Order: sequence, then C-alpha cells, then structure tokens
Amino acid sequence: MPASLLRVLTCGSVDDGKSTLIGRLLYECGRIPDDVQAALARDSARYGTVPGGIDYALLVDGLAAEREQGITIDVAYRYFETPARRFILADTPGHEQYTRNMVTGASMSDLAVLLVDARKGLLIQTRRHATIAAMLGIKQIVLAVNKMDLVGYDQSVFDAIATGFAAFAEKLGGLSVIAIPVAAVVGDNVTAPSRNMPWYTGKILLSVLEEAEIPAPPSASFRMPVQYVNRPDLNFRGFSGTVAAGRVRPGDKITNVQSRVAATVTSIVTMDGDLQEAQAGTAVTIVLDTEIDVSRGDVLAMTPLPETSDKLVARLAWFDEIPLFRGRSYQMMLGTRIVTATVSSVSHVLDVDTLDENPARDLKFNEIGLVNLSLAQAVTFEPYRQNRVMGGFILIDRVTRNTVAAGMIEGTDRIASDVHWHQAEVDKAARAALKGQHPAVLWFTGLSGAGKSTIANLVEKRLHTIGRHTILLDGDNVRHGLNRDLGFSEADRVENIRRVAEVSRLCVDAGLIVLVSFISPYRAERLLARERVADGEFIEVFVDTPVDECRKRDPKGLYAKADAGQIKNFTGVDAPYEAPLAAEIHLRTVDESAESLADQVVMELRNRKLID
Ligand code: ADX
Repeated sequence: MPASLLRVLTCGSVDDGKSTLIGRLLYECGRIPDDVQAALARDSARYGTVPGGIDYALLVDGLAAEREQGITIDVAYRYFETPARRFILADTPGHEQYTRNMVTGASMSDLAVLLVDARKGLLIQTRRHATIAAMLGIKQIVLAVNKMDLVGYDQSVFDAIATGFAAFAEKLGGLSVIAIPVAAVVGDNVTAPSRNMPWYTGKILLSVLEEAEIPAPPSASFRMPVQYVNRPDLNFRGFSGTVAAGRVRPGDKITNVQSRVAATVTSIVTMDGDLQEAQAGTAVTIVLDTEIDVSRGDVLAMTPLPETSDKLVARLAWFDEIPLFRGRSYQMMLGTRIVTATVSSVSHVLDVDTLDENPARDLKFNEIGLVNLSLAQAVTFEPYRQNRVMGGFILIDRVTRNTVAAGMIEGTDRIASDVHWHQAEVDKAARAALKGQHPAVLWFTGLSGAGKSTIANLVEKRLHTIGRHTILLDGDNVRHGLNRDLGFSEADRVENIRRVAEVSRLCVDAGLIVLVSFISPYRAERLLARERVADGEFIEVFVDTPVDECRKRDPKGLYAKADAGQIKNFTGVDAPYEAPLAAEIHLRTVDESAESLADQVVMELRNRKLID
C-alpha cells in the first residue's frame, strides 16, 4: 500500500459535472467490484446521459442516494489509490445551503479541487468556496475547468477563467493555484491527457493530485484536550483523548492548562498496548505519576502552554437561515469543551466578490465575518492557523439545536480582556440585607395587549405595600429612553432584550425586586436574561392571552393597524412569538381578573420564599 495519503476536498455543484469527475477517478483508480462495473454499464445504457458510453456520474449519485438515507452524514468520504499515493476525497453537496458541509470537509483537507463549468465561468459560489477553503487552512487549490467539450475545447475560454481566478486567489494570499481544462465526461485531462486540447501542456488532474505536497503537521508542543477521565477501578486513572499537536513520551512533564498543575507521564496506554511515543492524531490514555485534578474538556500540554481566555476574536462562516445577532448566546463546541458564547460585536463582513471587509451588525446566511466573542467560561485554545483542532469550533443554536456556524479562532480579544468586572466590596448580598429582602427578576412575557403591564403594575403595588423595594421596567417606557434607537426588527428586539437583561441584572445587584414587562418574543433572549442572574432569582411569568383575545382588546389600536398593514413586524400578526415551554408562572388571562392573577404571582413568590 502506498504510504502517503492526500486529503482532497471537491467543491462545485452537481451541474458542474462533479459527480462525473469523481466517478471517473473512482472508476479508474478505485476498486470498483466487477458486478458494480457491469451494473454501471447496464444503467448507463438505460438512464445515462452519455450516448453509447458509461455515465460515471451514476456511480457517485448511486452512492449519494445511499447516503441520503443516512441523513446525518453531510460529507461523503471516498477512497481510491494509485501506485503513487492513497487519497481520501471529501465530497460535499454543492448547493448553496450546504456551505456547512463544505466547511466540515475543508477543515480536514490538504487540497481543494474547485469545479467550474466552462460555459458559466466563475460564479460567486466558486469565489465563496475558494475563500472558505483558504480560511480553513487549505493552501493548494486546483481549478478544474470542466465541460471543455461543450465550448469546443476553446483555449481562450479556459484562459479567461484561469486568469480571472488567479487574480482572485492572489488577493486571498498564500495559495498555490493550478488550473486545468478538463472534460470529465470523456476523461480528458482527468486520468489521461487530452488529444482535444493540444494547447494545454500542463499536468493532468491525477498527476497534480499525485504530486501535491502533503503539508507537514505543525511542529508544535504537545497538546491534548481531554475527552474523558478513564477510571475503571481504584487502581487506574488515565486521561483519554486524541493528541492534537506535538508528541508525548513517558517521563515528559505535562501541565493541565486550566489549573496550571503539572505531573509526569508514566505510561501511554492504547488498545494495542503501551506506546513509547504518541504523536498528533493518535488516540491515547495518559497515566500520570501524581493525582492531579483533570476533567473533561481540560487541555493537557507541554510548554510553551497555550493561551486561555474568555474573550476571543474569531472568523465565522454563518450557515443558518436565521442571522447571527449580536448579544444572542450560542453554544460553542471547541474540541471537547462546550461553553456558552455571545457575539459581543461584529467587526466586519467579507464581500466574497471583492474580498472587501465591510462594517456590519449581523451575519446572514452564508456570510463570512470577523467577530468578538465573550464566553461564560475561559477556554484553552490556539489560533486556528497554528492548530486546526485547538482553534476550530462550531456554534449551536440553543433553541433549534442547529449548527449555525463554523469558527476559527484568531486570538484573544485583548481590549475586552483588559476590562475587568469590578468586584465591589459592598455586594449584592450586603445591599439586599440592608433592605431585608431577596432580590429577584419577575420577567413578564406575552403578546402586545396580553395584560403584562397591567398585572406587573398590580404586583408591584402589592409588593410595595408590604415594604419591598421594587423597580418596574416596561417595554413602552424603556423604548422611550435607553432603547429609543431600536425598532422592531429581529436584530433590534434581540438587542432590546439584551439591554433589559443587563439592566435587570444590575438592579438585582442593587438588591431590588425587578419587574420586567416586555413582549420578549424569543426564547434565546429570555434564556440569556435568566442566565444573567443566580439560580432561583429569575421567575418567568407567561401572560398567556390568545392572539384573538388581544386583537379584541386592542388597547392601543395597534392590531387594527397591523391587520391593515400599517405596522410591519407586529408580534402575533407577521412576527413570531415563541411561547415559554417551562415558565415558573403561567397566567391564563381569559377567564380571570388581573387582580386575582396578581395575587397568584405574589402567592408564588411566597411559596418560593422570595418574600414572607
Ligand atoms: S419586544 O418584542 O422588543 O420585546 P417591547 O415589549 O419592547 O417588544 O415593545 C412592545 C410594545 O411596542 C408593544 O406593546 C406595542 O405597544 C409597541 N409596538 C410597536 N410596534 C410594534 C410591533 N411591530 N410589534 C410589537 N409591538 C409593537
């Protein structure tokens, strides 16, 4: 078996002839069993699009159909080899909505083959794929200009595309680019030179793949994120994971970066026996000479130690239909760690055509940008360009559970890290004690006209009567002051609630009972508000009034206007409301008076020992 292995990413849409190209490589270099070859010949005659010949695309599309039944696999890996080298080909669906899969494939590849249809030339998608590939650390790009047979093997068509792409790649920087004119359907310049294009004197695709440089793993110090702590019995304790960089041997001194405690490696255990040395990519269990505290997600490393920070600068490729919003929190998966991350600002969004960096407030579907992230806990990382494993992450939407972005860490956000939270000597407990009360947030959510403010007012009066110190934050009022710059777009509502969540937190720190009355239509932001205060301090009150009832009441005449199209993005009419799934208090307003609903809230506060 040839020793060297090249990981290749293929990008392009089905229409560019990608399946045919891959099919041909597999057919001529892969190990296609005889019965599959016979079936392919039969199917080509019946369904093929190549008169009298073999339709290689059927080979790949057949595999693709199989794959689709498995739904969860987004990237298909195909294997083939020549006497010179083995190949793993990551094939990703080419439609726009699948950029996500491309990112997954690219983060593991050494070289990318970008397919272009000679008749169509360079598309925005080609540029986007090249940008993402470069951003993910791929340094070698092959531009396969396909369907040359359909443009009469015209050199000038090829030259124009190749020159256009070279100019673009130049701007991306640091890339080696080879353009090849191919006709995958007849195999020209794929696995054999073309007789139809004598003007092309460069290498054929297969030779380029055979001769491409295999990037050496970065020579870095040892790093291993701990996948789990292996403790089968009292006599054995090891830390399992995959070595992310460098090498480790028994006798080496390693440090748990999180706790800064060091110990010496006594053995490196694997399924196939103990190792004298483990290198990047190897799955191992490391045993140390002393008991040090290590948990899942910690990073074991040798000096110089990697950085740890809770404020990061990162590049993001955004995949979700719902844009990224500043202030919204997501789950960040970095190696074996999962932490809550909030985008504190978007520095710029990349114009994929010109590579200009334009100012932006959010990132939309398929956009790429640079952002600042603020994390709930510090993580240990390395810049992505130094180490793909320690610097690459994904973001997950906390409500839909979708993977919404892939990210590459650039480094620590120095400016944000230097702003330290001021630990005051007089703290929340001291302030609350002076008032003799438990601070809390009562968060009223519901449609416009549901009765939030009315009930919140009554609750505040009752609390005031029994000597509690309160404050009421009401959407209509706060929008006249602090938030007067915000409207009702999704991004503005996210920001509206983020600010109110922060103000509530400050008021809780002041020892107050805070009553918040905002529509707050999104679960994600209500979750964010909840997490700004301590456990048990956040009471979500769902003021549940069906939209038809709100429309009937219509205290401000806004539903009438929204129905007439005079107000846009009106919650419950043409903007969504995500009802709470597990509010602490659920008030159904239809058959109950506001007075008795307010009593219910006060009662619940007593039950929870927040008031006596
Ligand atoms: S939120 O969605 O961002 O939480 P908020 O509670 O601050 O909304 O403000 C809602 C109030 O703004 C409503 O009670 C209503 O008086 C007014 N309003 C004006 N336009 C809209 C709209 N498009 N959707 C909802 N409320 C609106």
